[in-house]
Amino acid sequence: MYKVAAIGGDGIGPEIVAEGKKVLEAAGERFNFEISWTDFDIGAERYLATKDLLTDEDLAELRKFKAIYFGSIGDPRVQPGVLEKGILLAIRFSFDQYVNLRPIKLLEGVATPLANKTSKDIDFVVVRENTEDFYVGIGSRFKKHQKKELEVIRHLYSVKFGLDIESDAEEIAYQIGVITREGARRVQTYAFELAEKRRKKLTSVDKANVLSDVYGLWRDVFSETAKKYPGVSTEFNFVDAVTMWFVKNPEWFDVVVTPNMFGDIITDLGAMIQGGLGLAPGGNINPKGTSMFEPIHGSAPKYKGMDVANPIATIWAGSLLLDHLGEYEAAVAVVSAIEKSIKDGIVTKDLGGTAGTSHAGSYIAECVRRE
Ligand code: NAD
Ligand code: IPM
Ligand code: MN
Repeated sequence: MYKVAAIGGDGIGPEIVAEGKKVLEAAGERFNFEISWTDFDIGAERYLATKDLLTDEDLAELRKFKAIYFGSIGDPRVQPGVLEKGILLAIRFSFDQYVNLRPIKLLEGVATPLANKTSKDIDFVVVRENTEDFYVGIGSRFKKHQKKELEVIRHLYSVKFGLDIESDAEEIAYQIGVITREGARRVQTYAFELAEKRRKKLTSVDKANVLSDVYGLWRDVFSETAKKYPGVSTEFNFVDAVTMWFVKNPEWFDVVVTPNMFGDIITDLGAMIQGGLGLAPGGNINPKGTSMFEPIHGSAPKYKGMDVANPIATIWAGSLLLDHLGEYEAAVAVVSAIEKSIKDGIVTKDLGGTAGTSHAGSYIAECVRRE
């Protein structure tokens, strides 16, 4: 019996997690395991009623689980960033889920917007660092009269650019990116080990030509780590260029490792080349602690409660969850069942079908049982 925590969250979150649960339960029936779910009421509704985002009690409870199944967070009634940082990022950081694993794989039967590319060409994995970089939350925003902070910034500006910030700027905002040697090493090591199990090619993506302090350290650690994995071929790409290569030559990539913010951006691009946000899954992994599995898309508020959202990204994230629990065969069977539903055309509107969220999910669950 596996105990798994479930957080539906906001918008389409609860609907897609319900479908994911159906499919994982079907996988359990076929492969002889059971999942016991514990649902957590965390998200916009509770926040609006109580002002609670992620409480100490939530954390203490969630910590008891090896895996969390997560829908999505974000609600138009709440200012952007409050729920996203207060809940989603808080979980990633609290449980030190330093790997954000995002497979970019074009399933058989899915249309990609890239001309002349097929499933053989689009099959790589982005390993996004998940606890550092510009996500650390160090920053501030202030006006001229807020003297204390201005002192620090004025000093930085005069040293670096010879500018008199007080007369040059009315209002200032800054945010700091942080890379640590340990933080870079652990996620890069994960990526090298993954590359060893795959096609043995690892691409590091950064912007060391401009942000040379943070990503200079990232590159140094990468070069050092690479020495331990002589069987893996490596390369550096700048993030602007990699967006071009993802579109032009996706077949070049096997494993891509990248700092947090670029990883966020390039995986939405990755999602589009694999057929759309409705398909792209992710895992937030702490190999020794509590991990969390979710679609990479958000709460798509315009589709809330309409039975139109594509549940596949969440179901696929469920496959990553099963893999994490050690149910390898079941994990593979879930992806095969997704592919079968696509071949049979029982898919939602975004993939050109007419099925509702619930019908698409039930069909995949049926395929898992029958295979
Ligand atoms: P979004 O990913 O929610 O949606 C963008 C668009 O993608 C949607 O309007 C829809 O057309 C499509 N889409 C997304 N998921 C789909 C699905 N399952 N089926 C079919 N189409 C789908 O991004 P957004 O509109 O920028 O953000 C909405 C909210 O979600 C914001 O509050 C944002 O901060 C939040 N967000 C949360 C997460 C998360 O919880 N992991 C991730 C990204 C954004
Ligand atoms: C994602 C999302 C989150 C991120 C937001 C909602 C905090 O965009 O999971 O990709 O930036 O990591
Ligand atoms: Mn994102």
